[in-house]
Amino acid sequence: MPKSPLISLFHLFPPEMAHHLAVQALRYGLVPPQPRVVSPALETTLAGVPIANPVGLAAGFDKNAETIAALAGQGFGFGECGTVTPLPQPGNPKPRIFRLKDEEAVVNRLGFNNDGLEAFAARLAAPRSFPIGANLGKNKDATDALADYVTGATRCYPLAQYLTVNISSPNTQGLRDLQAAEPFGQLVSAVTQVRRQLMETEGQPHKPIFFKLAPDLEADAIRALCDILVEGGADGAILSNTTITRPVAFDGAGGLSGKPLQPLARAALHTAYAHAGDRLTFISAGGIDSAEEAYARLRAGASAVQLYTALTYQGMGLVTQIKRGLIAFLQQDGFANVREAIGVGA
Ligand SMILES: Cc1cc2nc3c(=O)[nH]c(=O)nc-3n(C[C@H](O)[C@H](O)[C@H](O)COP(=O)(O)O)c2cc1C
Repeated sequence: MPKSPLISLFHLFPPEMAHHLAVQALRYGLVPPQPRVVSPALETTLAGVPIANPVGLAAGFDKNAETIAALAGQGFGFGECGTVTPLPQPGNPKPRIFRLKDEEAVVNRLGFNNDGLEAFAARLAAPRSFPIGANLGKNKDATDALADYVTGATRCYPLAQYLTVNISSPNTQGLRDLQAAEPFGQLVSAVTQVRRQLMETEGQPHKPIFFKLAPDLEADAIRALCDILVEGGADGAILSNTTITRPVAFDGAGGLSGKPLQPLARAALHTAYAHAGDRLTFISAGGIDSAEEAYARLRAGASAVQLYTALTYQGMGLVTQIKRGLIAFLQQDGFANVREAIGVGA
């Protein structure tokens, strides 16, 4: 895929600087909008949230909710901001993002660098019609992880269209331990309890809560976590976060994303959908870099997809390309709407 001139420019800078420039360019309206590709065939819902198309921005690009106003213009159907932690924190020492160009991959060990919940919530509170998910984490030094998630959920629930509980980033020590059945179950009930309370006491509407899982879990663990989500009344899962495995030659610590993550992310989705089917809503992320790949994930049971790493190689034009491709594939297969394609190839 030839690079856009803007991407070639960004690639002159080290990855974290390029990322910062991209966020600021979007924030200040310096990135030209994509051509409008709007079709009733792409209109769908994500666990009840109406979205204009099933192509979303994955968490981690806009950790501080700075680009919300620009995302619709870039063609996304929804965006996910964060990971946000209750208190601001600097993250790990730099350098902490690495481009693996030949592999179309990235390794990051950012460690939840972010401006904290108050700054995040203030930006999320600005009026908008575009659906945004708030991706929640815990502070590095938190002594009570569960309390951090409850704090984040309580603050963001009224402001976002959905919540994601991120317990799968590999760069915060102990975070992935929350994917063990017992703490996972406690977390599911704590966060769904926040929703119940806000619905009862503040008359808040029902909004979906997703849990974002690692691609490194065994199939049995994925199935067990799906059961806990269903039993606990959560809405779905995002599959997946970055991997700590190294199907590429890179020695340092961090989470690997992009093309080499494709097989793991596909497998995790396959396992989860085969087990839980329509009892949960799945968002697929991990190496999605074309309309073919996005369509395959929908057919494998995802209700929507999220992009990150491929955008850093192909630019925002990828969003348009995927939407055009999806429209063509749906037509070719005789589907009037993307909802009809979900899970048909699982
Ligand atoms: C630089 C970078 C930072 C990320 N930060 C977060 C984050 O803060 N929270 C999160 O849930 N996922 C984060 N992710 C993971 C992505 O949201 C996504 O799940 C993963 O990269 C797989 O998708 P991709 O292969 O399209 O990048 C990050 C990924 C990258 C590359």
